[in-house]
Amino acid sequence: MLDLRDLDLQLADAATRRWLLQDIALRVAPGERVGLIGPNGSGKTSLLRCVYRYRRPSRGAVELEGESIWARSPRWCAQRMAVLLQEFPEDFGLRVDDLVAMGLTPHKGLFQAEDASDRALIEATLQQVELTGYGQRRFADLSGGEKQRALLARALVQRPRLLILDEPTNHLDPRHQHALLQRIRELGLAVLASFHDLNLAAAFCDRLYLLDHGRLLASGTPDEVLCAEHLQRAFGLAALVDRHPVAAHPRITWIAP
Ligand SMILES: Nc1ncnc2c1ncn2[C@@H]1O[C@H](COP(=O)(O)OP(=O)(O)OP(=O)(O)O)[C@@H](O)[C@H]1O
Ligand SMILES: [Mg+2]
Repeated sequence: MLDLRDLDLQLADAATRRWLLQDIALRVAPGERVGLIGPNGSGKTSLLRCVYRYRRPSRGAVELEGESIWARSPRWCAQRMAVLLQEFPEDFGLRVDDLVAMGLTPHKGLFQAEDASDRALIEATLQQVELTGYGQRRFADLSGGEKQRALLARALVQRPRLLILDEPTNHLDPRHQHALLQRIRELGLAVLASFHDLNLAAAFCDRLYLLDHGRLLASGTPDEVLCAEHLQRAFGLAALVDRHPVAAHPRITWIAP
């Protein structure tokens, strides 16, 4: 589905000679949920930007369904992958309906108007993210968690096969965190998502990649990646790793120094 090989990303300002990413190799299989973890500034957002064709890597390949994304148009990419970003977009007084309708664009011809089936899809998707009846409200007036869910609705309306998520649970309360991840799981899409909450990452992901200073420190199943040694090296903090008593995935408890 997604294949990154030998990827390097250097700052455009080459004078500083700073590498944001080095030697990245990463794969996401169809339907697989892959997590990206690592400390602040380790390169998670930068890596995701390379995947959704926002940043062109200095070296290496980014292939989606076997094709280089840079040999393809932004529209081709948007028909296959959708993105939910860490920051909220600038709002131009948009209503929730209009925002979600933006997700239809990659599948529409130029100037092709929205029809009844589009509106039904938008309504059904708002219902899916528990925002029924929010269509006419201004995006700017929503709470942080409601904004996040409206943006997820926009991404889902895009009908992607790969969903890119940058800290998707950031603004959500615990119930909505789990509801969002459960909803995404049920869709059966391939997912590449960054997480700060390692316990959520362990619960949600089939495999994890641990980034540190722009390089991969470890990759594998949550059991393989989330060991006290890796966590100490990447985060500089001692951790106790045991098992979640109900779900059985690794559970991390940070030990204050
Ligand atoms: N365009 C840019 N110009 C200068 N520095 C940049 C640029 N983009 C990213 N960086 C730097 O690259 C590093 C990695 O940033 P990135 O946003 O990828 O980290 P992150 O892992 O997503 O962090 P966080 O957990 O805080 O979201 C940071 O030190 C950041 O300041
Ligand atoms: Mg980030």
